[in-house]
Amino acid sequence: MENEPYAGYRGLPPLVGLLPMSQAAEIGLSVEDAVARLKRLHWAFKRLHGVFVTRLTAMPIYELKMAFSLHAFYCAEHVAALAARVQEMRQPPYGLDAAPHAALEIFFDEIAAAPAPEALVLGIYDAALPALVRGLERFLRETHRLFDFPSFRAARWALLETREMAEYGDAAARCLMSAEKRLELAPWREALAQALAAAGDLDGAAAPAGAAPERQFSAAPPRFDPVPRRDERFRDPYNMAVNAEAFLFDERIPAWPKTLMLYFKRMREIDVPEMIAGILAETGGQPWEYYRDLTRQLWDEARHAMMGEVGFAALGLDWRQVPLPITWSLTLNTQLAPRERHAVLYAIEQGLMPRPHGKEGEWRIALASSDRLAALMQDYDWADEVLHARLGRKWLVPEFGSQSEALAAGDRAWSQVLGGWREWREQGLTAHHNWWPDLYRAACAQRGVIPDPDLLAYATSYEATRPDLKAVAG
Ligand SMILES: [Fe+2]
Ligand SMILES: [Fe+2]
Repeated sequence: MENEPYAGYRGLPPLVGLLPMSQAAEIGLSVEDAVARLKRLHWAFKRLHGVFVTRLTAMPIYELKMAFSLHAFYCAEHVAALAARVQEMRQPPYGLDAAPHAALEIFFDEIAAAPAPEALVLGIYDAALPALVRGLERFLRETHRLFDFPSFRAARWALLETREMAEYGDAAARCLMSAEKRLELAPWREALAQALAAAGDLDGAAAPAGAAPERQFSAAPPRFDPVPRRDERFRDPYNMAVNAEAFLFDERIPAWPKTLMLYFKRMREIDVPEMIAGILAETGGQPWEYYRDLTRQLWDEARHAMMGEVGFAALGLDWRQVPLPITWSLTLNTQLAPRERHAVLYAIEQGLMPRPHGKEGEWRIALASSDRLAALMQDYDWADEVLHARLGRKWLVPEFGSQSEALAAGDRAWSQVLGGWREWREQGLTAHHNWWPDLYRAACAQRGVIPDPDLLAYATSYEATRPDLKAVAG
């Protein structure tokens, strides 16, 4: 701008500072060209969203499960924003669901079907996201910031979060990928590059070069794997020995030991994204707003899990000693239809609203403990859950006809779920070891206080029942 001969009144930047006048007279994509680019970028975000939600449940590595949750949310947001912009640009039919190029379809199909974790990480974060960053950067350079301002703004916002995803992915690839694995995957990585070249790059701005590669992983279409998996740090995943809700609402127990149970309850929520991902992966034909809302909820639940992780870390406790059960997401994902699972989730979240034992109750417990972090965590958790109950009403009440019908459907579906405390013990999946005393003892040691013998001896259980519907998630 310094060498810009054209200036506004008393040197004010012309054109609101969006771009120099010299550039404004030179650059710009036609509406048709801008729409073609935006449609490709939109489609790439949509495919990536699909990859994240379809692969999240069976992704064993906890950190990647959380990353997929955030990145699915970013993609869902940019799909919505870019689709809205395309629909403003008088170029129907929009064709927003169609693959813009056969080679691009192969590119994303291959990534969607890549074996976890290495090939999947390589495909998403080393191939797709850099191509998306490149396409967004090129769009921002070439479109007219003034004439095409709404597209410019949508792309700038998308670039900010896409760069963040790509940077995380770089770190993930560095941590997870050995030199041998990179070498082994090099021909596949080359095939992905070949697919992009054949498509004229992801955004279609380059001249198409060469033929599309042969399919390797995606010869057969990938299917959603509903079985949640966790990495080797997660032990005893069927353990239902400690009834956190009975503990929390036991008036005899002082407040601060209850914060441990709140951190446990939050981190246990890893199972909620594992379950919501399945609803997203297996529900077709909804407006994008449905997928966006549910992906927002999925990411919120991942945040809740990480809130618990922060709590354990702040207390100097090792969460690996606490069994974080897999039973809820496993039974729902493998036994109920997506619509029923959604109704179960809604019944739970609606059930968290009333006082005194719902989300407000948890927040009051945290406040009483004088643990600032626990109170902050519950404050936001409560706010999020109010939103989730509202999202459930928004999508399920019209579907089931009324709120009471939707809630009844959730309760009915939950009552059909097989498996529980007794079965898992009889099948040798767990001994339901009571982990509470060890956690409490470790927390007391960190705090420099002597454990209360009554609390050391405290035992609760979900014995003889399936975990109560209202108790498990949220
Ligand atoms: Fe929730
Ligand atoms: Fe939650």
